[in-house]
Amino acid sequence: MKRPIKGNVSWVGKTDWELRRFHGNELSTEHGSSYNAYLVEEEKTVLIDTVWAPYAEEFVANLEAEGVLNKIDSIVVNHGEVDHSGALPALMRKIPNTPIYCTANAVKSLKGQYHADWDFHVVKTGDKLPVGNGKELVFVEMPMLHWPDSMATYLTGDNILFSNDAFGQHYAVSGLFNDEADPCTLEYEAMKYYANILTPLSPLVRKKLDEIIAMNLPIDIIATSHGVIWRDNPGQIIEKYAKWCRVYQENQITIVYDTMWSGTRHLAEAIAEGIVAADSSVAVKVFNIAKSDENDVLTEVFRSKAVLAGSPTNARGILHSMAGFLYLVKEMKFQGKFAAAFGCYGWSGEGVGILNTMLDDAGFARLGEGLKVLWSPDEETRKKALDFGKNFAEECRKAASEGAEN
Ligand code: FEO
Repeated sequence: MKRPIKGNVSWVGKTDWELRRFHGNELSTEHGSSYNAYLVEEEKTVLIDTVWAPYAEEFVANLEAEGVLNKIDSIVVNHGEVDHSGALPALMRKIPNTPIYCTANAVKSLKGQYHADWDFHVVKTGDKLPVGNGKELVFVEMPMLHWPDSMATYLTGDNILFSNDAFGQHYAVSGLFNDEADPCTLEYEAMKYYANILTPLSPLVRKKLDEIIAMNLPIDIIATSHGVIWRDNPGQIIEKYAKWCRVYQENQITIVYDTMWSGTRHLAEAIAEGIVAADSSVAVKVFNIAKSDENDVLTEVFRSKAVLAGSPTNARGILHSMAGFLYLVKEMKFQGKFAAAFGCYGWSGEGVGILNTMLDDAGFARLGEGLKVLWSPDEETRKKALDFGKNFAEECRKAASEGAEN
């Protein structure tokens, strides 16, 4: 179903209410998602992006039912990943000679995935495609945001930036626009999207944002490829990205652990108490990673100034839930965050040392050698954990103020 956006631009995408995992099983999407495709109907009709492959037939049938399928003069592919290009094979079976405008890298990704030689037209930043009525589409390459093939497309006259993945959120909602969505869920999903997908690319986000701002384009609408379209104050999401792509942190410390017989859990809880006792202004969040959503916890790490990682020693190693989570954390290339490790042991006690190494490898500024507790915590070791939490909070505060002075 065509839904109006502005002027002669409509949404022709798909709302995926049931999506719960994305990128295979890598990303949780508890609020579903959408695959936003757009139709520009001026003197020329241009389709911008398509939808994920499972919805390809439905997508093409909708375009046919709306009477626009055979009017499409050209297709813009902002990004070749299958959630946006998955309907191309079904579409191109119907309109095989339609030119496709995309980056040189998108030609590679589309050929690599669909093994088809469609009528590709390679575009670069600043190239334009006139659509009639005095309007044109202007292309802006966005390499590594988040694939080498990514680009955005800007429609002059209506001042719409079709930003593809950038500024998106995995959020299925009945209204198309940000002013029609729950603001808390929207803010959380936008941050989770950034934290889990774009964090490792933050230096490139910084550069690209500066470039877009320098282009001085009037932007009335940011039409993303997932979630809501930013219509009400679209600059707000650009401002958020400008903060998130720098060394972002809130006054929060996140404790992530796994436990076998609750010893390491007792340490986590005592450390949390100690942090609050030392600095009640800090938000402390505590997660057993084996019972939590890794992508949600990663989002909490993203907004934290420091992280405490806990695991008991098991088979001369650490619990695999923590090992997997710290692998994910390392991929994010976080900067400017403090960390420490803790855990119980009964025999050999390698756990905390392994956690220290993993925190170092993940780029954290580690404060101390961590807290190792033999067997289950008793009152004395519980007090030790409480003090460890207090010291950690104080060290974080001290290190942050020294950093601010330098
Ligand atoms: Fe939403 Fe990179 O695809």
